[in-house]
Amino acid sequence: MVGVNKNIVILISGAGSNMAAIVRASRERRWQLRFGAQVTAVISNKPSADGLAWAAGEGIATGVVDHRAFDRREAFDAALVTHIDAHHPALVVLAGFMRILTPGFVQHYEHRLINIHPSLLPAFTGLNTHQRAIDMGCRVAGATVHRVTAELDHGDILDQAVVPILPGDTAQALAGRVLVQEHLMYPRAIERLLAGAN
Ligand code: GRF
Repeated sequence: MVGVNKNIVILISGAGSNMAAIVRASRERRWQLRFGAQVTAVISNKPSADGLAWAAGEGIATGVVDHRAFDRREAFDAALVTHIDAHHPALVVLAGFMRILTPGFVQHYEHRLINIHPSLLPAFTGLNTHQRAIDMGCRVAGATVHRVTAELDHGDILDQAVVPILPGDTAQALAGRVLVQEHLMYPRAIERLLAGAN
């Protein structure tokens, strides 16, 4: 990644625990000093997303583009692009952002759009990943950080974390253990990108 100011914009829809992990890591590991990088904005499609208040409390610009105000996906994505581009991002990070993005959006952010998905891709794209892994009798589950392409939950894999599925596991218990690993992996993957190693 080139350029002096590497602004990072994070998109969320809910709790934003991955977003918070990235913000904390950016400060603890001095991304500003080392890479000229900082999280400049957190944007949600849901006004009620808990992560928004947390980010605002940390002094980060927040924004809402409510998808319910748009009747077409393209119109929502266009408004989202306007909000995001106001921050001139070097990297756009999807962190629990629960909207499917149009090919036009994905193309606009080609090479600077990444996502975290709670499965070991290419297995279990889509929703309910942990329950499906348990139902299939998988012995391990996990999460994947990947580049975003027009095809849902595809794109180059940047990192993966593996978590064992325990006897009697519930989707909720498994999700909690996977989330702990997500919080370690996502900042690590971003740091590698900032360092130009991916
Ligand atoms: C994470 O499990 C992530 O992998 C998935 O949605 C969840 C978001 O959690 N895409 P949070 O909002 O970061 O707490």
